[in-house]
Order: sequence, then structure tokens, then C-alpha cells
Amino acid sequence: MKKESRKVIIAGNWKMNMTPSAAKSAIAETAALVAGKNGCEVVLCVPFVDIAVAVEAAKGTNVKIGAQNVHFEKKGAFTGEISADMLLESGVEYVIVGHSERRQYFGETDETVNKRTRAALDAGLKVILCLGEVLEERQAGITEEIVSMQTKLDLAGIPAEQMKDVIIAYEPVWAIGTGLTATPDQAEEVCAIIRRVVCGLYNNDVAEALTIQYGGSMNDANAAELLAKLDVDGGLIGGASLVPEKFAKIVDAAQA
Ligand code: 13P
Repeated sequence: MKKESRKVIIAGNWKMNMTPSAAKSAIAETAALVAGKNGCEVVLCVPFVDIAVAVEAAKGTNVKIGAQNVHFEKKGAFTGEISADMLLESGVEYVIVGHSERRQYFGETDETVNKRTRAALDAGLKVILCLGEVLEERQAGITEEIVSMQTKLDLAGIPAEQMKDVIIAYEPVWAIGTGLTATPDQAEEVCAIIRRVVCGLYNNDVAEALTIQYGGSMNDANAAELLAKLDVDGGLIGGASLVPEKFAKIVDAAQA
């Protein structure tokens, strides 16, 4: 399979931004700007409390709604958590799992990332699985080892049939929210490593069909050259996804 036959996905991660009223207008604005741009899938991952208005505002448009986390148990005494079934019934199609901010600030480990991924897939959600090295790991020359290990641990026990619902987002932690973007060659190198590891875990068909996004200070100015790389099949965008015009330009860059 060639790059052109993989699904390109441009996803916004709003993080802890946008109240429901702000979300409603941002979705409407974004949807108007990306209307008819069918060369990629467009997803906005919103805070839990925005989901209801976001799903409503996205109805009849080509914007899909995602969440930013999911718990691994089906239900029960887990105060403050949200289950995959709750997300699904709320109209959510995608969920981000294992974002570096959750790993860094909320004690997320590869074990819990794996459990959340499995629960979300079993419920029928599509998972945007995030991984990537921190600055010290890059400087120590162990990026390949780190992302390979994360890929293996985070995908443990997930059968090949479910890999059609997995997207991997390579997000070098040093590039997130810093304005320091990985160069296209750096992004390509690591996305290709991830694809090789997935090939080893499953087979060539699964690896070639897998959408691998780059995330970390992607914006309207640098998206085109990152997306032109052979193994970069989309983007996971933080800051620039909060500004509909900027996000729409990234969607434009993915139309080629
Ligand atoms: P920025 O685009 O703000 O660097 O954030 C990237 C990110 O963390 C997306 O999940």
C-alpha cells in the first residue's frame, strides 16, 4: 500500500480550552472553513463538557468529534472518570489516549495507556494513541529505543483486526507547545521507525495501512512540508487548532 492510499487525518486537540459556548462557535466556524475538504478526515478532540454541543454543532458537516481521555473500566466507583460507553453514546468517534501531558502530569504509564486503548477499541471507539520521547532521551540518542518500547507496550494484546481503529500520533515532547517543531526529516525518521515496529508486531499490511500523525507545534506555516513526508499521514494539532482559520489551513495542506 502506498502513502496515498492511507487515511490522512488532521485532528485538533483543544486540551483544556474552550467553554461550551466557545466550542459551539469554534466548531461552526471550523466546519464552514473545511466544508468539502474531503482529502482528509477532520477531527476535533474537545473537553468532556463540550462534547454535547460539539456533536450537535458538527452534525451534517465533515468534522468528527473526539475526546481527550477515557477510563479503562466499563463503569463503577471511579470518581471523575468517563467510560468508553459514555463517550460512544454521546456521539464521540475518536479518543486521544496517552497524551504526554497525561503521562507527565497525571501519572499515565504505558500500562494504563494500553488498558485505556484496549477498552476504547473494545467499545468501538477509534483511538489516537500518543507517544514520543522527551528532550533528554533525544539528546541521549535513545529516541528509537523509547518510541519502539512505547509502541510495543501501548499496543500489547491488541489484535490485528482492531488496528484499523488505531492511529498513532508521534509527538516529541520537546516540540509540544514550545514552538520547536521537529524538522520534516526528524518527523519522518521516527514515524518510519514506528511503522517498522508495527510491522514486526503484526505484518506489513497492518503497518502500511496505519495512519501515523505528527504532533508538536504543527501550524499553518509548517504543515505542508511535514505532511509531504512518506510516513507522516496527518497531524495532531494543539495551539493552532484553537484558531479555525489556522486549523483550516492545515486541513488545506493535507488535501494534496
Ligand atoms: P501544540 O500543537 O500546541 O504544540 O500541541 C501539540 C499537541 O500536544 C497535540 O496533542
